[in-house]
Amino acid sequence: MTTPDADQVARDLTSARARTTWLTDLDESELRAQHSPIMSPLVWDLAHVAQQEELWLLRGGVADRPGLLPPHVESLYDAFQHSRADRPSLPLMPPVEARRYGHEVRGRVLDLLERSDDVFPFAMVAQHEEQHDETMLATLQLRAGAAVLLPRAPLPAGRRVPRDAVTVPGGEVVIGVDAAAEPGSLDNERPAHAVDVPGFRIGRVPVTNAEWAGFVADGGYDQPRWWSARGWQHRLEAALERPMSWHGDGTRTRFGVTEDVPPDEPVQHVTFFEAEAYAAWAGARLPTELEWEKACVWDPALGRRRRWPWGDERPSDAVTNLGGGALRPAEVGAYPGGASAYGVEQMIGDVWEWTSSDLTPWPGFTTMLYADYTAPFFGGDFKILRGGAWATATATVRPSFRNWDHPYRRQIFTGLRLAWDL
Ligand SMILES: [Fe+2]
Repeated sequence: MTTPDADQVARDLTSARARTTWLTDLDESELRAQHSPIMSPLVWDLAHVAQQEELWLLRGGVADRPGLLPPHVESLYDAFQHSRADRPSLPLMPPVEARRYGHEVRGRVLDLLERSDDVFPFAMVAQHEEQHDETMLATLQLRAGAAVLLPRAPLPAGRRVPRDAVTVPGGEVVIGVDAAAEPGSLDNERPAHAVDVPGFRIGRVPVTNAEWAGFVADGGYDQPRWWSARGWQHRLEAALERPMSWHGDGTRTRFGVTEDVPPDEPVQHVTFFEAEAYAAWAGARLPTELEWEKACVWDPALGRRRRWPWGDERPSDAVTNLGGGALRPAEVGAYPGGASAYGVEQMIGDVWEWTSSDLTPWPGFTTMLYADYTAPFFGGDFKILRGGAWATATATVRPSFRNWDHPYRRQIFTGLRLAWDL
């Protein structure tokens, strides 16, 4: 018998596959090409999502149990064995074979879901595929040449919104979630625990392109005083002068389209180092992830977490920009109905927001079925990102969701929001 949760997970698996299909509906040469040395060829992602689905759901995570692929083929899709740079030279399955394999696995998985009491592994696998879909969007955004992907979801216009700071008073809140409240939450989001977060102020909306252009025009990229020592070193080595995809003449190129940089869109494709420098220039700092989560989800009147900033209802196009169809963030002010209890807007969707926090386990952390999802990365050279981007799927983001990346990365859809001490 299927539970309501199993129905939701089945829908999540189906929408993940629809997104994968949308993003890989390309010629074989496009799918095999490596569009950037830091990204996989799309045909690798295509088979990898199916291989992981088979491993975790049909073989219980036991790699030694015989599977549908010969071991020497299966090992090509092990992310820990092959770096992204090496993946194009591997004898990867052609797209038609990868799709057939994915279809075969999915049929068996949906049968099994009908008979399963524990749907968490299925929810985890749906999120894994959606995370790869977001990675594929990052790959396609880097791809040179004429556009192959067109926007398919309209966005609401922005509105004139105060670019001010919202005050969040100090006090104890609940950070993180338990499986009972958020069955799809991953290991690093758990468990729920009380934290006393001192008062702070946080930007009502994310930093926009126009505001970032002010930093560029003021010589922000030429003045070490705004940068950390390591950030300045990276700015010199990588010759950073402006966000990725900007040309310096007020235009940018994304997904094969060159256009004027939209002033009221949240800035994206900046490194942590750039975000930190911008914040210093603006007389502010980045929020900690505890501050970010409190501003996003705490309801001070009721003394409890909401499930989402706006309340307990699932995300919809009326309150947030998720799913990837827009191919861009919405202008600031586009979602007044998506504001948190404190009045902070656009925390979910649009752009991932850099925080000042490192990737550490919450007190009481335990690994999940996919034990290497987070644990090998604790203590590494990573900064936490929160809130998801326009390219993130609904099933893959929650106010408790913790993403992490190297502070020098900016091919993902990264922006920022400022914070200040009280
Ligand atoms: Fe993966």
